[in-house]
Amino acid sequence: MKKIIAVDGPAGAGKSTVCKLVAKKLNYTYIDTGAMYRAVGLKVFESGKPADEENINAAVEEIEIRLDESARVFMGDREVTKEIRMPEIGNMASTVGKFGAVRKKLTELQRNMAKSGSVIMDGRDIGTAVLPDADLKIFLTASVEERARRRFEELKAKNIPANFDKVKNEIILRDKQDSEREIAPLKKADDAILLDTTNLSIDEVVEKIVELAED
Ligand code: DC
Repeated sequence: MKKIIAVDGPAGAGKSTVCKLVAKKLNYTYIDTGAMYRAVGLKVFESGKPADEENINAAVEEIEIRLDESARVFMGDREVTKEIRMPEIGNMASTVGKFGAVRKKLTELQRNMAKSGSVIMDGRDIGTAVLPDADLKIFLTASVEERARRRFEELKAKNIPANFDKVKNEIILRDKQDSEREIAPLKKADDAILLDTTNLSIDEVVEKIVELAED
């Protein structure tokens, strides 16, 4: 039977790492909605134009986003999996995510993607706005210090230049922006299970979610 797991939480909580592993274990499709906001952010960033409503609306109207079964991200025919991981694109993704036209288009796309089979989808508004009827909702979080440490290590491993304090400040700013925006802000759904992963290993978090899904 088709099942849906929604995972939300702040930046750097380990959502994508954990969701990929849970998807593999349960044989679900993993859908990374942050990657979609990042693709819109990349398009605006590369246009060289100011990130204002007019330019953001134009970019989202034009953009064609596709995620393949290995979670690679495409803008039209161009693969942008690596480019969208740059820290400045994370900030740009948070900026474009404030606008209604962006949220509308990406939410529709995400709902369509969730129709095909069992999925685990992560983001900021999945349990509250995109898939409010999900079978299982998880709100994944960790202390700011720990999230910054993880994101810093992740960037280092990908050979993307990074500075710890800068990474931490960007996370704080991004959480503030994501939770204070008017449309579909980052928020724990009332029926989501809170998982604080500060002192948990990746395997422990994966096990916990798999257990909850199998219940
Ligand atoms: O999960 P991430 O760091 O890749 O997401 C980048 C930004 O995209 C995040 O700071 C806010 C935005 N986003 C959103 O507004 N809604 C989502 N469902 C996912 C991401």
